[in-house]
Amino acid sequence: MNCFSIVLLERVRSLSASLLFVCWAFASVGLAQQPLKTLLAGVDHRAVTSLNGDWHYLVDQPPAKGLYTSSGKIRDNGYALNTRPNIKDGPHNEEYDFATAPTLKVPVDWNTQDPTLFRYEGVVWYQRDFNYTPQPNTRTFLHIGAANYKSFIWVNQKRICDHEGGFTPFDCEVTAVLKPGDNFVVIAVDSTRDIDGIPSVGIDWFNYGGLTRDVSLVTLPTKFIDDYDVHLKHGTTFSAAEADTLAGYIHVEGATTGTTVTLRVPEAGVDAALKTDGNGRASFEVKAKHLELWSHENPKLYAVELASGEDRLNDEIGFRDIRVEGTKILLNGKPIFLQGANMHAEAPYRTGRACTDEDVKNIFGFLKDLNANFVRLAHYPHDERMERAADREGIMVWSEIPLWQHISFEKPEVYAKATYMLNEMIRRDRNKASVILWSVSNETPNNPVRTKFLTDLANEARRLDPTRPITSALIGPHLKGTEMVQDDPFADALDVVGQNEYIGWYELRPEDADNIQWKLPQKPILISEFGAEAKQGVHGGKDERWTEEQQVNVYEHQFIMIKKIPQVRGLVPWVLMDFRSPTRNIPKLQDGFNRKGLISEDGKKKLAFTLFQKVYTERSVGKSE
Ligand code: GCU
Repeated sequence: MNCFSIVLLERVRSLSASLLFVCWAFASVGLAQQPLKTLLAGVDHRAVTSLNGDWHYLVDQPPAKGLYTSSGKIRDNGYALNTRPNIKDGPHNEEYDFATAPTLKVPVDWNTQDPTLFRYEGVVWYQRDFNYTPQPNTRTFLHIGAANYKSFIWVNQKRICDHEGGFTPFDCEVTAVLKPGDNFVVIAVDSTRDIDGIPSVGIDWFNYGGLTRDVSLVTLPTKFIDDYDVHLKHGTTFSAAEADTLAGYIHVEGATTGTTVTLRVPEAGVDAALKTDGNGRASFEVKAKHLELWSHENPKLYAVELASGEDRLNDEIGFRDIRVEGTKILLNGKPIFLQGANMHAEAPYRTGRACTDEDVKNIFGFLKDLNANFVRLAHYPHDERMERAADREGIMVWSEIPLWQHISFEKPEVYAKATYMLNEMIRRDRNKASVILWSVSNETPNNPVRTKFLTDLANEARRLDPTRPITSALIGPHLKGTEMVQDDPFADALDVVGQNEYIGWYELRPEDADNIQWKLPQKPILISEFGAEAKQGVHGGKDERWTEEQQVNVYEHQFIMIKKIPQVRGLVPWVLMDFRSPTRNIPKLQDGFNRKGLISEDGKKKLAFTLFQKVYTERSVGKSE
């Protein structure tokens, strides 16, 4: 019985995520003697061998016999073998051939590369050759930045690892199966929606499939740093005068008790020699000199050097304090008001899953134009480039796992999935100062099973990272006369409450918002989604749906309402940019796009963009305290 089944049977809620994470690491390929599967924090700051570029691909349509047996088990003798067809005589293979197959670019989803795959949701096989030169006393991992939704990996015909979840990285050890010279890797990616998946089957975004983020080989010393947390010490209160201590841990995979780890932050006068405990973890609290705290106005990043044995890892980390006090959000002890927008990982101009420097530059260009200081990366962790850009640009981030609306809350294996997705999100981005909120869900049904599931998950997030407030976007306030009441019990588990509402679009008329009083929890509230659809370039009266003027009208009435809610600490309109969603089927108006963007998918700003630009410049809606 492997760890995963233990978790399923005993539904041990309190099973610590790290134990679960380790179980997950092995469970995907069986017993512990299998290669290590992990998530290497800081990979984007390591020297790696990129495997981005052209990969051969073959479509394995349902029932995907190249991957699954008739009972749905994974075959190790299907396309994974990467054999050649025998054209002349003798045994033939399964009638596939990667060597003569066309190619896809990795990363980038398959939907926007091959028109025949635009709406395809299923299995696509990827294959490429690569050269490897053995380096003594090292371990090599295959790093996958993200693969949507399930992925199965073989190297030189050996099964390496599997992964479920379309938006977070994972690293699979390939040391034992690599050969000097020519090697090959075969990856099956299955984007089929799964009722017990996270997200489940009903989503309002495009289910872009494939190897949607960077792929590389990472070669490390036999003992290496795989996880670390270097943050400004987070005490029960914050005092700028005492903001001079760094705290956290560095974990060295393979380390024994007493292994030396060094932490250097030269510009802050930190040069500490630490020792690992029996679990390979070196915890620390060290005094720093004249720390400049990270903020929107001054996104100061420090060069941080970690070392242990042969391993070196350099990162750039900002130090700041984020916390809630009453109904206020305090950044470095000062109340803040978040002026931002939601954004899907939709690539401006080209569409598709955003995954390149160019995509990130375009998105941050829009945020800068908007005078935003905040972005909600809906509804899943985006490419790591986004948080790196946010760190550099001083844009604060709401980061979220894709637990969207209806999932199978009653199933223990779904809770286990949610827990390791949360773990992956936090492990990848815990050292990004820009990330100020972890969100565990979006718009889930208010019932006891879900509330227990999410309350446990919120507490797990707090256990994993006690330095950040936990949030979630709620829906379902109910109108009593002119009072809109939000009494979802899940709000009790949150530090910051996101309130989604579409008064003036999905319900009531825009002008009804003027007279609505809200009854909300006495916590910091972000209006985490609000807005209306407009097709860019369609103009008409302010009451004419789908016009830009109507979209502005909805927001103007929204502002009248929001100004009356004293604990609102942020505006997050849905959505910065129109994004693909197959459920949006009004020809000529939507054409498969959700049109609530302030900007069209080809970068054209709507009147509502100009409205927010003005509101954000003047800071005319909402107060930080
Ligand atoms: C919901 C949901 C979004 C969705 C939006 C809409 O609130 O959170 O993912 O796109 O509404 O209907 O446009």
